[in-house]
Amino acid sequence: MEATRTIVVGVTGGIAAYKSAELVSRLRKEGFAVHVIMTRNACRFVAPLTFRTLSGNPVLCDTFEEDGPWAVQHVGVAEAADLLVIAPATANIIAKMAHGLADDLLSTVVLATAAPVLVVPSMNSTMLVSAVVQENLRTLRQRGVTILEPAEGELACGVSGPGRLPEPADIVARIRELLAPAADLAGKTVLITSGPTQEDIDPVRFITNRSSGKMGFALARQALRRGARVLLVSGPTALPAPAGAEVFWVRSARDMCARTLELLPQSDVVIGAAAVADYRPRHVSRQKVKKGDGELHIELERNPDILAEVARCKGARVTVGFAAETEDVLANARVKMEKKKLDLLVANDVTMEGAGFGVDTNVATILSPDGRAESLPRMSKEQLADEILDRVVALL
Ligand code: C5P
Repeated sequence: MEATRTIVVGVTGGIAAYKSAELVSRLRKEGFAVHVIMTRNACRFVAPLTFRTLSGNPVLCDTFEEDGPWAVQHVGVAEAADLLVIAPATANIIAKMAHGLADDLLSTVVLATAAPVLVVPSMNSTMLVSAVVQENLRTLRQRGVTILEPAEGELACGVSGPGRLPEPADIVARIRELLAPAADLAGKTVLITSGPTQEDIDPVRFITNRSSGKMGFALARQALRRGARVLLVSGPTALPAPAGAEVFWVRSARDMCARTLELLPQSDVVIGAAAVADYRPRHVSRQKVKKGDGELHIELERNPDILAEVARCKGARVTVGFAAETEDVLANARVKMEKKKLDLLVANDVTMEGAGFGVDTNVATILSPDGRAESLPRMSKEQLADEILDRVVALL
């Protein structure tokens, strides 16, 4: 039987603290031993008794308390942890962690533990995107802390944007991954195209699309976690580059194509997650185009199809494409699959809620060459990335 693993859940003072009750409950149901550490402010949002009942253990709030199970609380709990998850993580705990402060039990345990740490930020969008919070998150990532990206949506403060605590099920899934990293892509090189391309009209204007690069980056993170070397050819995006990936930044479809073909010989798997512009302006004006009184016509010419180019020298590689459609999803996807000689095609209807551009979730159907079409439920892009890689591994 698998030994019981201990998850220490740090709860800080955010409105999403109530969702951590469900997190703790799920962890217990999945067979983990759970100890909860609450900050003083967290206790203002949810009563410690809730967590005590759900975890089945005394809740730890104070460094100098006497009634915890260990002689020296912060060292005992830090050593007992197989993983420390902080959910919700406020801007304050993130800042304290980035700077090594240890002025309460949770921040002290963070310093005292050798276990992997998962931080799940949740706060108002403006706070989240502020330069200092982002800088602190970058620092933590660089030090090997895993950050689970906040979800987007309606926030308690009334605004809508990034900052929501992800669903407890997604947090548990991430915890499981961190505890048991599969190394089934060790020794393999995965080449991923990601993000939009930009096609210049003149020195200040370009044509682009709504791709955020989230799906490609999630694939890169999951492939890294499974032991792969990752070559990521990315169009412009505001996302932080996945730590450990070799990133090649490009702008136009032609640059992306050239880079991909250059890296192709090194790869075992090619995943085309980029939203490549199909057309580019035939003439790029060297000067800024001046406005006149009448209409302006821009003549467009075809861009190369990167996956079709890859197909020409595919060899034994496993290739995966995406098909973002707005109608006749499966029929269009099947044609694409054949034309680009793909082993897997991930089709989605981008008009569906929770699918496609910019959002953190996706609703996809995975097509295999034998004609099978597997419809997956709505899930995070991280989870979908893992589903795709499961099938890639089976094909390798
Ligand atoms: O034909 P369509 O653009 O719908 O195909 C989508 C798939 O093909 C995606 O995997 C995308 O990354 C890839 N693609 C490409 N080069 C293009 C257009 C699409 O690699 N010029």
